[in-house]
Amino acid sequence: MSFDLVFFGGTGDLTWRKLMPALLQAMRHNKLPEGGRILAVARDERSDDDYRAFIRERFSEVDPSKRPSDEEYARFSAMLHYRRMDLSKPEHYAGLKDWLAERGADTTVLYLATSPHLFPVICEQLGRAGLNRPDIRVVLEKPLGHDLASAQEINRVVRSVFHESQAFRIDHYLGKPAVQNLMALRFGNALFEPLWRRESIANIQITLAESIGVGSRGDYYDGTGALRDMIQNHALQLLTMIAMEPPSTNDADAIRDEKLKVLKSLKPFTAESVARDVVRGQYKAGTVDGKPVPGYLDEVKVPPGSTCETFVALRTEVQNWRWAGVPFYLRTGKRLAARDAQIVVNFREVPHPIFAGTTQANKLVIKLQPEDGLELHLLAAKGSVPSGDHGEVLSPVSLDLDFDKAFPSQRVGAYERLLLDAIAGRLNLFVRSDEQEQAWRWVEPVIDAWAQDTVGPRPYAAGSWGPPAASALVARDGSAWAEEQ
Ligand code: BG6
Repeated sequence: MSFDLVFFGGTGDLTWRKLMPALLQAMRHNKLPEGGRILAVARDERSDDDYRAFIRERFSEVDPSKRPSDEEYARFSAMLHYRRMDLSKPEHYAGLKDWLAERGADTTVLYLATSPHLFPVICEQLGRAGLNRPDIRVVLEKPLGHDLASAQEINRVVRSVFHESQAFRIDHYLGKPAVQNLMALRFGNALFEPLWRRESIANIQITLAESIGVGSRGDYYDGTGALRDMIQNHALQLLTMIAMEPPSTNDADAIRDEKLKVLKSLKPFTAESVARDVVRGQYKAGTVDGKPVPGYLDEVKVPPGSTCETFVALRTEVQNWRWAGVPFYLRTGKRLAARDAQIVVNFREVPHPIFAGTTQANKLVIKLQPEDGLELHLLAAKGSVPSGDHGEVLSPVSLDLDFDKAFPSQRVGAYERLLLDAIAGRLNLFVRSDEQEQAWRWVEPVIDAWAQDTVGPRPYAAGSWGPPAASALVARDGSAWAEEQ
């Protein structure tokens, strides 16, 4: 199957940092369909060879394991092409159409890796040029809007040009192997599903912690903040995968219908519940990995006195029969103690303990990164002779499943997976417009409440787990974050 993959924003960070390395990996894994062309589009004048040299050089900045050898780059760069385009000029789209028509690939994927404010103009122009035929797919990168109204406006324009089945909205967390394993764990095994409900589960915690700061992205980040950058999309998508009902099939719409129901069942925020159930923070100077690091306000391109949040922890509930009353805690932040993304399912304690000592409840930890795996925490008898008259004392043990070890050669990264899915037309791991808008609808009262709040974010030291109020939020329900247990 031949394909043409066009990157709008072809010289931007996302393209060289994530997309090109992902395609190179796909080539290494022999997963890239034969006969592919990759066309980068940007404003400046360059030849194909200039562009190939530019990408080659940029590879020196990506993870060493993802850098190509000379032989690999020769094969890879043969697919690369470059085209100058002014995105507002119809004749440039006509030129693109001719370039694509010269060969007539089976599939054309147009990847908008630009700033989202350009999405409407690009889509309109693509439509006018007739670059919206059914065999054409459009991939939209986050952030898809800034609030509900802007997301709706983007979706309105996208829908006026493309059918929903042609629109691939990326949330790269859905491409992480652990997320596909979550689906497999829940719906490919009979073991957990009977327990996956309020009767057995005490609470669920989703943590997306980063140890990096905002780096050179201060200007983008300051207009965004952790709520829009991580909670509205990545954390909520994970929550839907955890909480959804079993879909009737493994088809994109069957899955997305169930995810949408979860988003619609989330307890709506009010000004009072935002004050009680949402903690926002901003990092101050501190120490990360043994090195002193500056506070957020001292990062480049961050305006003085900014009240942008770099940390959010919140408590919510999914208001349906399966989950009524079960707290879902979501937490994300920059400059936290570790890079650690995981979902912890805390089960209820035994109803009637008969062993002395430890009475730790079971928990299932779904690890997304840095490693990708599953841990099931249990209590076990050591098999030694009990001392004194205490009887058997149980000890915590865990069953660990390391997917990198179990499937060493088949693991693919998030962007690699999602790019291959877009080329193949598989929509399962992409976000539908109604899901995305519902997620905005849910976070908006938080944005509104913060706009009225003069106190601003709570400080936390870089290298910590966020403001103490985040621990208090969970302690209030008699629980604790995983690292505090
Ligand atoms: C992006 C955010 O969507 O996800 C970044 O814009 C964040 O701020 C990144 O650093 C985290 O992704 P990952 O895959 O490194 O956890």
